[in-house]
Order: sequence, then structure tokens, then C-alpha cells
Amino acid sequence: MGKHILILEGDGIGPEIVREAVRVLDVVNRQFNLGITTEHGLMGGCSIDAHGVPLTDETLARARKADAILLGAVGGPKWDKLDRAIRPEKGLLKIRSQLGLYANLRPALLYPQLVEASSLKPEVVSGLDILIVRELAGGIYFGEPRGIRVLENGEREGYNTYKYSESEIIRIGRTAFEMARKRNGKVCSVDKANVLEATMLWREVMDELHKDYPDVELSHMYVDNAAMQLVRAPKQFDVLVTGNMFGDILSDAAAMLTGSIGMLPSASLDKDGRGMYEPCHGSAPDIAGQNIANPLATILSVSMMLRYSLNEPAVADAIEAAVGKVLDQGYRTADIYTEGKTKVSTSQMGDAVVAALN
Ligand code: IPM
Ligand code: MG
Repeated sequence: MGKHILILEGDGIGPEIVREAVRVLDVVNRQFNLGITTEHGLMGGCSIDAHGVPLTDETLARARKADAILLGAVGGPKWDKLDRAIRPEKGLLKIRSQLGLYANLRPALLYPQLVEASSLKPEVVSGLDILIVRELAGGIYFGEPRGIRVLENGEREGYNTYKYSESEIIRIGRTAFEMARKRNGKVCSVDKANVLEATMLWREVMDELHKDYPDVELSHMYVDNAAMQLVRAPKQFDVLVTGNMFGDILSDAAAMLTGSIGMLPSASLDKDGRGMYEPCHGSAPDIAGQNIANPLATILSVSMMLRYSLNEPAVADAIEAAVGKVLDQGYRTADIYTEGKTKVSTSQMGDAVVAALN
């Protein structure tokens, strides 16, 4: 039976970039006879506007039934002043935790054509291919207790809880080791084990788990050093595995190595490989509706979806080759534009990828 995809465009540039990604999905669906069906739903600010909450139970139920979810991005200034409990981001966090999407894969791959677009020197980034494996359903993002309370002296105090259980560390650790086996055989685990107990345990458990993967090389690095190494000598890394918050921060830094965060796809997988696919970037409200955003991160997220949840690696390869081809042809959205190239809009970039596939 054909696979079913739930599409959540979200807010800001979400609808524009998802539109191009869905065109690409439609083309490969026909070309390769995949029999994929799709439906659309609301999440984030658009859902708040329509239903008063960022993710309704009905949409969550549809997400549970889908074989995969394609997401644009959520959030924007329009909803920033709302009560904490119904902010757009809450919808995203809820779907991640409710669906058990604990393994967030964020590949930072530099297309050779974009070496000029990176803010780092070509020799530092050329050939870059690293994978950040970010724990996505635990850590300080979800730890209880949390909140903002009033102390006895009358001042307010904000507080969160950073915790990881052994089983949570083991399952994300396994993802990292298994990914490394298919790549260059190296895992660097990032923590703050010199200060935070939660990550002292993280380091211990990673070492214990390593015994199951003797063929993979394991190293450890403190997060502050990892941030520095990522911009100093990023090619030393193969797979980086880390907790939710550190992974959030390091993946944005890694994105810039590749020229633009507009190039970075991601996959968020559950224990069975079902997943949600979204660009690493946000909803970019400042450029929303202008048809200038880069749709390639979302198009590449479709490719990850075909690879990881729909078991269609050849189709994923075809999309990645098409992206390579449009970059060869010199097409660039504003975020990756360098002199001498052809500046294109969001929809023109979509056109070019579709043409490259045909
Ligand atoms: C990301 C985003 C989200 C996160 C926000 C929008 C909640 O920054 O996917 O990296 O922090 O996880
Ligand atoms: Mg982020």
C-alpha cells in the first residue's frame, strides 16, 4: 500500500518553501510510481489563529497515523506575546515528544558549489560532511519541574530541569553509533561533564555503550570546546551526538559552515524510523511572503524522508543529484548568492529542481 504523508506548512516562510518541496515530491511520486498520498494540517501560529492552540488533538492523531510528516517552520512575532502554554513552538515540542521523535539527524554537508558562500575559508570547509545527532525528546527542553515562580522575597525566578535517564542516553547513543558505522566510523559525544551531573552520566553511559560498537571510534568533548572546534576545524568531526539544547545550538553553528542555514534538512525519528522532516531553519518572518527564501533545505528534507522513512534511497539520491545540478547551473537564492551566479526566487529554485528531475 502507498505511503501517506501529513504536510504541515506552518508559519512565516513555511508555506512558500513547503510548496516547492511538495512539487518535488509530486514529481518523484509520478516518475517513480511511489503511490504516495498526502494531506495537509495546521501546526504553530496558523493553528493558534484557527483553533486557539498550536497543535490540536485531531492533528496530532492524524500525525500518528501518517507514515511521515513534512513540516515547514513555526512561529513568528505575531504570537510571541501569547501565554507560554500556547506559543507556536509548543506545538512543535508537543509533536516531537508525543510521537517519540527522539533522534534528530542534522547533516551539515557543504556542496562544493557553495564553498564561496560559507563565511569560513574554503580550505576550512571544503569537503565538509558532518552529522549532528541531537537528542530531541528529553533534556532541559522537557525536564520537570520548570516554570517561573515568585520567591519569598517577592522577586521572580525562572527555572528548568536538565535531566537524562540512562535509557534516553542509550537510545540516542545507539543512533549515533549506527550512523557512524554507515559513515566514517567516528562519534564525538558532546557534554558539559565538568559541571553538569546530567552530562556526567551521559559521558559514562556513552562509554559503556561503546563496548557494543568497538569498530566505531568514540571521543568526548565539552560543549564550549565543540563550539570552538566547529568553526576552527570542523572537518575533524564525523558524527556529533549531544543533548537537546546543545544540539540546538551547535546545529545552527554547523549550518553556517555550509554557506546558509537555508541548505540544511533534518529528520526526527522514532524508534521504528517513522519521522518528521523539516528544514533546520526557522520561519524567518522578516522575509515571509516575499518569494525569496531558500526552499532547498525543505526539498532536501523530502529526500531524507524518502531515505529514512519511506525506504526509497534511489529516489532520495535522485533529488540530491537534482539539487547538485541546479547549483552547478549557477542558480542561487539570496542567502547563498555570490557574484557571477544567477539569483533566483523561491519558486524559481523549485522550478529548477523540478526541471533537473525531468
Ligand atoms: C529547532 C528550533 C526549535 C528548537 C524551536 C523552534 C522550538 O530552534 O528545531 O532547532 O529549539 O528545537
Ligand atoms: Mg534551533
